[in-house]
Amino acid sequence: MTRHFLNLSDAGAPALAAILDDAIARKAARAHLPKGQADADAPLAGCVLAMVFEKNSTRTRVSFDMAMRQLGGSALILEAGSTQLGRGESIADTARVLSRMVDAIMLRTDDHAKIEELARYATVPVINGLTDLSHPCQIVADLQTVIERCQPLGRPRGKALAGQEWAWLGDGNNVLHSIVEAAGLTGFHLRIAVPAGYDCDEGFIARARAQGARITIERDPVVAVAGVDVVVTDTWVSMGQAHADEKLAAMAPYQVNAALMAHAARDALFLHCLPAHRGEEVTDAVIDGPASAVWDEAENRIHAQKAILRWAFGQIG
Ligand code: CP
Ligand code: NVA
Repeated sequence: MTRHFLNLSDAGAPALAAILDDAIARKAARAHLPKGQADADAPLAGCVLAMVFEKNSTRTRVSFDMAMRQLGGSALILEAGSTQLGRGESIADTARVLSRMVDAIMLRTDDHAKIEELARYATVPVINGLTDLSHPCQIVADLQTVIERCQPLGRPRGKALAGQEWAWLGDGNNVLHSIVEAAGLTGFHLRIAVPAGYDCDEGFIARARAQGARITIERDPVVAVAGVDVVVTDTWVSMGQAHADEKLAAMAPYQVNAALMAHAARDALFLHCLPAHRGEEVTDAVIDGPASAVWDEAENRIHAQKAILRWAFGQIG
């Protein structure tokens, strides 16, 4: 069976744990190497990843490229608009052709149904580099970041996430959906503080709760962050969404600022997938302050995706 990574649940809890272990161990093992030098074992030597972009990206494109270099392989970028996809060639035919030419495909697109169709016709692994529905690669990097920050506090790796309290502030979007999945797979508790009318997909919450996740909806942002270990937010207007004044007004009370962070646990972490809209969902004082783990989080996209790639190629999990 070809291993696709369209959502975190495609891997499942044991594989996600193996992915996180691999990401943390390989990152530590190459700490002093130049960023473009391959790992000593070069486990994907000779392999090529095609990255197809229908939306903008900085972190995802650079981190997948660097991940493939560090695994001994290489990556190529296809801007969808300049390919035949942009002139109407079908996703199915594109999947068939790319599967003959490269070893794995990453897609960033809008409609999640497109990546499901790509995976249906591809005979090589397909990885979700963000859709309107979810952003699973981002959340593996987030989990890695929290585990790494917790270990010096004496929490063993396997227990670092279970029982933690996380609070999500802002829009009920694609990144939140993957965090909800992660809560189901790893056992942290999640308080979702989203203004009424901007809630996330109920199906993600129902599936995570069925796996035992404790997820609550809190309209009051102060109640949501009270005593939590991790505060996470994202842009209020995702790529492809309209910039509506009424949405920005509804989101305003959910801004992560110093006054709100003061209600979280003393050593709480702040996460943001980036790009940030400083002065909207987060203030400078928080993103540049001592709680912020956003630069580790961004770097960890490389290490997390190396492990996701190794899982997709059947090397771990
Ligand atoms: N966080 C993230 O996916 O960033 P990019 O949009 O820059 O890839
Ligand atoms: N929710 C954001 C994430 C960007 C990485 C978006 O979809 O634009």
